Amino acid sequence: MGEIELKKDIYWVGAIDWNLRDFHGYSTPKGTTYNAFLVLDEKVTLFDTVKRGFKDDLLRKISVIIDPKKIDYVVVNHAEMDHSSSLPEIMDICRPKKLFCSSRGKQALLQHYHRPDWPFEVVETGHEISLGRRTVKFIETRMLHWPDSMFSYLQEDALLISSDAFGQHWATSERFDDQVPGAELMEHAAKYYANILLLYSPLVQKLLGGVREMGLRVDIIAPDHGIIWRKDPGAILGAYDAWSRQDKARKALVVFDTMWESTASMGRAVADGLIQEGLSVQVMDLRFTHRSDVMTQVLDSSALIFGSSTLNNGMLPRMADLLHYMRGLKPQNKMGAAFGSYGWSGEGVRMVEQALQEMKVEIALPSVKVQYVPDEQCLQECVELGRKMGRLVLERM
Ligand code: FEO
Repeated sequence: MGEIELKKDIYWVGAIDWNLRDFHGYSTPKGTTYNAFLVLDEKVTLFDTVKRGFKDDLLRKISVIIDPKKIDYVVVNHAEMDHSSSLPEIMDICRPKKLFCSSRGKQALLQHYHRPDWPFEVVETGHEISLGRRTVKFIETRMLHWPDSMFSYLQEDALLISSDAFGQHWATSERFDDQVPGAELMEHAAKYYANILLLYSPLVQKLLGGVREMGLRVDIIAPDHGIIWRKDPGAILGAYDAWSRQDKARKALVVFDTMWESTASMGRAVADGLIQEGLSVQVMDLRFTHRSDVMTQVLDSSALIFGSSTLNNGMLPRMADLLHYMRGLKPQNKMGAAFGSYGWSGEGVRMVEQALQEMKVEIALPSVKVQYVPDEQCLQECVELGRKMGRLVLERM
């Protein structure tokens, strides 16, 4: 009763984590899911497991369908602990004959769980195994998200089990893209891409090209987090293509932190200038916005205009946190500028500019700085900064 079937004899047996609020620095206000899939065939196969603490959910779902001891094979597409930390208990309970993973997967699993007795079978791109009526083809997807990551493609069902790729951190009672609002689904997918995969965009491009060359028909994409794409897998493939190319858009992002509202009022003036030039503008005040929500907006913004007051000869700590986080995610093809107020030493703006430069954001316009509180003339300079940036964005479209 209540089993969720993707295709005949292929079941979702994952777990819903309604309470997860942080995924290594990425805010997950709506939780996540750890998806796992059970295939009934001559060789009963479990694709991926779940985070420790959700093992009972996984076993309960499997038990409704089949005795877990009847599982012949376990496939580990990715060794990160959100998918593998229940593996030691699952291996002890199910005692499968084979555990399939990539060579880096084997290494990572040994370094996590120290169980050389597990029946490892190392596979690589193009390697195929038969489950009976079905063939599974493996595709290594190194660094998407870890060096060990891989996809499992179930040929006869045209089902791609895609591990972290194409996922979302979104806990829902629904499992499929035809059961949830499309716009909300895409927002979660974009946040996930911006915070997990953005730095690997060149590899995503290569992978999408490789999958196209292999000529794989894909009816369903089943990621290990969130909603499964069965109505329109092309939608998420197209979005990944656009996000990984980091195409220019008519959009600018103004982000700031402020001590006494001076830098905030400068940021709003910059935004006014951008709006006057017809750009889509997002304004984010770091006192109220999480770094990972800023990254979602960075994804499709052409211009990044960041502001900070000066505190203790530096920028404000929330801006430093954002810039440090952003540097790791390596956004490409962006123009930038900085602004901010200061009391006496005034290093904050220069440090913001320098940090943007270090991550290869092109500093397209000189910064605007003001001592203490901006007057009308200064605010007009900020509007002009926005207008000039707006015109540059449009010129380069
Ligand atoms: Fe969902 Fe890289 O783990």
